[in-house]
Amino acid sequence: NRKKDFLGKRVLITLGPTQENIDPVRFISNHSSGKMGFEIAKAFQHAGAIVSVVAGPVHLDLSQFTTHRVTSANEMFEVANRLHSEQDICVFAAAVADYAPSEIAKEKIKKLDSEAVIHLKKNPDIALELGRKKKPNQLHIGFALETEQEERYALEKLHKKNLDWIVLNSARDEGAGFKVDTNKVSIFHSSGRVTHSAVIPKSEVAQLILNEIKLG
Ligand code: PMT
Repeated sequence: NRKKDFLGKRVLITLGPTQENIDPVRFISNHSSGKMGFEIAKAFQHAGAIVSVVAGPVHLDLSQFTTHRVTSANEMFEVANRLHSEQDICVFAAAVADYAPSEIAKEKIKKLDSEAVIHLKKNPDIALELGRKKKPNQLHIGFALETEQEERYALEKLHKKNLDWIVLNSARDEGAGFKVDTNKVSIFHSSGRVTHSAVIPKSEVAQLILNEIKLG
């Protein structure tokens, strides 16, 4: 599909994990590779959109986009928040850490003879905060990665974060979710419409998302 269906549209995409430092040599993170968001960014760019990527630490060549590389959830929030008002479409594909260590130790934490405890504080929820200031002409698309009661939790996030749709992928499905080149998704629209995919390449999931936007 070489048609420039999104010519001049501004699209913000968050992708990858975030890393939350514990001390100078350790962090809390997750398994996101950024591949899903990368394919969405590519699809929009091919369709003529002006793409801004806010990427956590990933091993991807993002030089074809206007890319902001960040490490923590706080940094990702700061950049996404700054860019939000000028966007037509926001896609929240990042796996943002919900918590970060309450304090980052200045020096490498020493091994103890006893159990160690790390206190955590809540990170900003980027999709939720930006959902609060979403304008009627802006489209917000979230993702949900679940391991149980998938549909229920996805729908809760759809409403809580004021999303227009949520793309559910389950860690229980073979060939779906983190790291792999394929995904299996269910797209829940706030209108009640639902679209299911088979296990297909993430590039085709991206195309499916663009097609659904065109359908309105
Ligand atoms: O990167 P890959 O290896 O290709 O894997 C793709 C993926 C599994 C990471 C992706 O398809 C995906 O599901 N991304 C969302 C993962 C996730 O952590 O979802 P969540 O259910 O925790 O969050 C729900 C939504 O809120 C997401 O759109 C998320 O980006 C957003 N969120 C969550 C927490 C937070 N603090 N800020 C957010 O913006």
